[in-house]
Amino acid sequence: MIHLGAAVAVKPLRADARYRNTLARAFTMVTAENVMKFGPVHPAPARYDFRGADAIVRFATARRMAVRGHTLVWHSQQPVWLTGGRFSRRALAAVLRAHIRTVAGRYRGRIAAWDVVNEAVADDGTPRRTLWSAGLGPGYLEQAFAWANEADPVARLFYNDYGIEALGRKSDAVYRLAERLLARGAPLHGVGFQAHLGLDDLPRWRDVEANLRRFAALGLLVQVTELDVRIPGKAGRRALARQADAYRRLLEICLTIPTCTAFVTWGFTDRHSWVPNFFKGYGAALPFDASYRPKPAMRAVQRLLGR
Ligand code: G3I
Repeated sequence: MIHLGAAVAVKPLRADARYRNTLARAFTMVTAENVMKFGPVHPAPARYDFRGADAIVRFATARRMAVRGHTLVWHSQQPVWLTGGRFSRRALAAVLRAHIRTVAGRYRGRIAAWDVVNEAVADDGTPRRTLWSAGLGPGYLEQAFAWANEADPVARLFYNDYGIEALGRKSDAVYRLAERLLARGAPLHGVGFQAHLGLDDLPRWRDVEANLRRFAALGLLVQVTELDVRIPGKAGRRALARQADAYRRLLEICLTIPTCTAFVTWGFTDRHSWVPNFFKGYGAALPFDASYRPKPAMRAVQRLLGR
């Protein structure tokens, strides 16, 4: 069974019934778009704020939807006490261990998949230099997976990254990283392919298929974790049809791989999407329009899934 999922923002989840209804009707899995990240969930050394994360987990559990946890180790959205602090290696390891224990432990048994580590490889395929890699040394990835596994032995544990959908330098590097982690016995169960795609820069689908297959051949789950397909300029009929085609192609590939168990979009309505803020001149990247009407992309997905 493949889950169709969407990243969820807490504000509209609380404020907008159309948002809640569309989400519950069309999807079987949710990811927290922001509220489980280090900064929002752990704003002060001895203070956690689980209000947003709890709201999402509660919403999902009440509707028997699965939850993807996002994310335990990342270089972005970190609190100032962490980025501005001075920690010895030992102290920083204790911080991360306690964080993982507390956050993953709170939702133990209720999270289907955790993005334990997010974006640890730079675009050129070298290890990304982050607070974690600099402060803890190269072994931190393995440690993070081990700690997550202790905190929640049921959740499937993922490495998640962008720009690794097709073949290339970065996906090769992540492939080697996955091999290495597995060889060392780390509890790595899957790789998440974010798939923030541009209609004017789509990957070669043949390469995407070959790439996902090689990861699956390592015995890993492969999931599409943050899909959006941004459209440059005005989203006219032709652009929407081509966007639908991109959604369909990627889902078709996923459906040919038995261990591709989730297909998750980063948001679901063009009303709430990170794309226009981040990519000037682009938008309309998601499967529902800003009025919650299904776009051709959504219809293509539903047709393929027979839903
Ligand atoms: O919550 C504050 C709000 O209180 C404040 O008034 C407002 C003013 O800027 O900022 C709000 O926080 C913003 C937050 O989104 C919630 O909307 C942050 O500034 C903004 O940086 C943050 O952006 C998020 C981004 O990650 C952070 O890097 C996006 O929503 C989120 O979609 C995006 O998601 C990432 C995935 O986690 C990892 N993969 C890439 C993906 C897209 O960048």
